[in-house]
Amino acid sequence: MPFSEILKQVNEKFSLRQKEDRIIKDSSTLDKKELRSGGNDPEALFYEIAQDNEIIQLYKYHSLRVMFLSSALAKKVNCYNEDLRIAALLHDIGKMGVSKKILMKPGKLTELEYTIIQSHSHVGNVIVRKHLGLTNAARYIRDHHERWDGTGYPRRLLGDEITIQGRIISLCDAFDTMVFDQRNYKQRLSYEEAYEELERGSWKQFDGNLVKNFIEVLEDITIPEYMIQ
Ligand SMILES: [Fe+2]
Ligand SMILES: [Fe+2]
Repeated sequence: MPFSEILKQVNEKFSLRQKEDRIIKDSSTLDKKELRSGGNDPEALFYEIAQDNEIIQLYKYHSLRVMFLSSALAKKVNCYNEDLRIAALLHDIGKMGVSKKILMKPGKLTELEYTIIQSHSHVGNVIVRKHLGLTNAARYIRDHHERWDGTGYPRRLLGDEITIQGRIISLCDAFDTMVFDQRNYKQRLSYEEAYEELERGSWKQFDGNLVKNFIEVLEDITIPEYMIQ
């Protein structure tokens, strides 16, 4: 079966699952037809790039999980919108031009390598704004590496200067990386260990109120098996 077909099926299953999910109640907004904007379909873009781009393939399941988790958390704190879901799916799209050697480097990054990786927030913003015309989703992508204490990138925004959707993606991204990611050969954490890390980062890296809500949300949802490699 071609890779694009598998991804399409994953997406269809994901939409169905969301319709059943008691946390994600407003499933009508997840209709694929509503995802199209100006003739460009963000999910089609993701699948297209994932099919051809080795880097985005690496982030495929991570991206689907961050979309699932971010949607659930946004619903919980009443700020869900379609742009959030699209931004969560495409949050790392800007990594498509970064070399695998840098992204997969197990050791410490040099200053230059770190600068190159950081550029993905900006590149993602440009792709989603210019190519898809989705200015809000682009802003959320731009914000997904900002930190509550103002030490993040690219703009060193502080606290609620960061869009709440950007803060949500940042939190779900960090959780997913700790619990599921093996790209950098680090040991995966259990949910409980990851909760401790998130709590340690409350009001420093993360919005502490979102951390509290996220831990509550995770008690109610299960990440679908087909989103876990
Ligand atoms: Fe990122
Ligand atoms: Fe990510």
